[in-house]
Amino acid sequence: MTAAVGSVQDLFTDAVQVVQRRGDVHDESLLWPEEDALLGEVAPGRRRDFVNGRWCARHAMVALGVAPEPVLRSGEDRAPAWPRGLVGSITHTDTYAAAAVGFAELVLAVGIDAEPDAALPDRVLRRVAFDAELSWVEQCGPRAGQDVTNADRLLFSAKEAIYKAWYPLAGSWLGFEDARVTFDPDGGTFEAQILVEGPLGRLPGRYAALDGVIVTAVELPRRQR
Ligand SMILES: CC(C)(COP(=O)(O)OP(=O)(O)OC[C@H]1O[C@@H](n2cnc3c(N)ncnc32)[C@H](O)[C@@H]1OP(=O)(O)O)[C@@H](O)C(=O)NCCC(=O)NCCS
Repeated sequence: MTAAVGSVQDLFTDAVQVVQRRGDVHDESLLWPEEDALLGEVAPGRRRDFVNGRWCARHAMVALGVAPEPVLRSGEDRAPAWPRGLVGSITHTDTYAAAAVGFAELVLAVGIDAEPDAALPDRVLRRVAFDAELSWVEQCGPRAGQDVTNADRLLFSAKEAIYKAWYPLAGSWLGFEDARVTFDPDGGTFEAQILVEGPLGRLPGRYAALDGVIVTAVELPRRQR
């Protein structure tokens, strides 16, 4: 059994630093000009999310001991482009944002996702889950472990964290039907079996609900490739 999760940092090793931000905060002064130009004209909620995610990313760089730099985009998709030598991942909801950043020489892949600990609409669950995953969700009910109440939302979040770790390495789409996920509620861990050809066959993850927010985390050390 793994130790209980007290903070979002406990979902990662020390090779990755995580910074989070809570509340419906919208502070334009937190955005850097290069990032502002990248974002362009968007709705206020999207702007708030982007600003808070970028703020977390820069503070995670400081926590790692490197000078903060803007986080731009890797291409036409929305994947973030990290400064040279770093890997990372960003997530945001209406009231929560977090970024996890690590050194590329130590960490191959990072993914983080946050979701409110609320039921997932049934039609969404049926779109993203295999039969075995659906059975697990039904069986465990509100006992998904690590203070998570909604196993359906946990499954959805884990798959999104897996995608964020997968995409920068593979450079290709991974659908919800392309990864099968199993959970260990006591340990607060999950494992994804990737069902398509690519750079990774399995991805490990950790999870917890922290003050009503489900956070799922994927971290792959470079040596385990
Ligand atoms: C990309 C995706 C995972 C984002 O998740 P989300 O819950 O909608 O949003 P979050 O706030 O948690 O994360 C958004 C951040 O993800 C990051 N992101 C977006 N596309 C990404 C990609 N291709 N690779 C890595 N990170 C990406 C960005 O940093 C983005 O924030 P930003 O635009 O402000 O920079 C989701 O929109 C998606 O496309 N999912 C379908 C693919 C999938 O999940 N497959 C499951 C495989 S098992």
